[in-house]
Amino acid sequence: MERLVSLAKRRGFFMQSSEIYGGLQGFWDFGPLGVTLRNNIKQAWWRSMVELRDDVVGIDASIIMNPKTWVASGHVQNFTDPLVECKKCHQRFRADQVTGTRHADDGGEFTEARQFHLMFKTFAGPVEDSTAQVYLRPETAQGIFVNFANVLSSTRLRPPFGIAQIGKAFRNEITPGNSIFRLREFEQMELEYFVPPADEMTWLEYWKEQRLNWYRELGIRPEKLRLRQHDKEELAHYARGAFDVEYEFPFGWSELEGIAARGDYDLTAHQRASGRDLSYFDDVHRERYVPHVVEPSAGVDRTMLTLMIDAYHEEEVRGEQRVVLRFSHRIAPIQVAILPLSRKEPLMGAAQRIEHELRPYFRTEYDDTQSIGKRYRRQDEIGTPYAVTIDFETATDESATIRSRDEMTQVRVPLKGLREALQERLH
Ligand code: GAP
Repeated sequence: MERLVSLAKRRGFFMQSSEIYGGLQGFWDFGPLGVTLRNNIKQAWWRSMVELRDDVVGIDASIIMNPKTWVASGHVQNFTDPLVECKKCHQRFRADQVTGTRHADDGGEFTEARQFHLMFKTFAGPVEDSTAQVYLRPETAQGIFVNFANVLSSTRLRPPFGIAQIGKAFRNEITPGNSIFRLREFEQMELEYFVPPADEMTWLEYWKEQRLNWYRELGIRPEKLRLRQHDKEELAHYARGAFDVEYEFPFGWSELEGIAARGDYDLTAHQRASGRDLSYFDDVHRERYVPHVVEPSAGVDRTMLTLMIDAYHEEEVRGEQRVVLRFSHRIAPIQVAILPLSRKEPLMGAAQRIEHELRPYFRTEYDDTQSIGKRYRRQDEIGTPYAVTIDFETATDESATIRSRDEMTQVRVPLKGLREALQERLH
């Protein structure tokens, strides 16, 4: 983890937020490669969950909502974690993450557990009193539930159908940590899939398999992924059944995504609290019901960390250490690096021209700094699958070398067919 976090900072994937002021616990920033990787993750999710399906549409709801939302959803009442404090050093911990009654570091006794509320509060408008108090959403899901009737009436969808959303969520976690694994500001990719009540468990089965496969398709090693069913005691206040997609992180098996059968909990709660009818009339079976919900809920940050951990390899090549991120071609931030062998002309001009030609088709980067060996190492470290090297022969034989990240082989290819040769390798 330490080496990965150091690579992430060195190469511009992620780093502590407001680092020049000492950072802020639980908040992280994403650099140029990080933001591209995140966009690729979000695009892959949106493509698979919305664009390639005819039963799912997307929305983008606001982060700050009418606070009645959070009373109705049960968050004001229930969205807490048990907190204990060490009586000696006053550090605070989640009670379910400590063992015994004393702090292992200094032997201090823990206080009795009390419930700590996880929603961030702020004020909307110029008056800072309780009537203006609002929350930063702790999940994107509620923005979907409150829009259920709007989507139903503006589309011709009927259950089973889904509404998807990607967006920021905020939780005042007691113990954020493991770099970007547990954050106080993070991003979720959530689908609320509305189904006839009798079909809920069938759809839970369906979505748990779909979601596990999605991670495999991103190139994550299958043996590092598993599904784990929640015990009855572990279920969230709204859930009737749930599975986690887990990954074997360096700190152990942990949740990557939750897939829950939420029943009619949310729609019924909002119907009761708002007085709006959130039922659906099935005109084929002539029956009215409140749809049940199956919810696959994933984290952009956790997916990013997982992809980086899973891709991270250290190897020895001809007596030298090489660090390589074996990203799949689909999500690699840079797909093709264009490297002139030297800074001399006509190499630089030719390389820049080639990069310009390839840019509409691939995520490319031009680099003419340092020795070619160092540039290959850098591209390996950021997970670029192919490099095109322009050398002194390029001007005369109209060809260039494609170097592969994984096999480290070099193949000479005519410039005329360069794009096709790369397309063949990258798709
Ligand atoms: N709407 C359901 C829901 O929010 P959750 O299990 O609390 O369920 C879903 O969260 C996913 O969101 C998690 O599997 C994780 O990927 C991500 N997530 C939740 N809390 C997070 C945090 N503090 N930091 C980073 N990601 C988080």
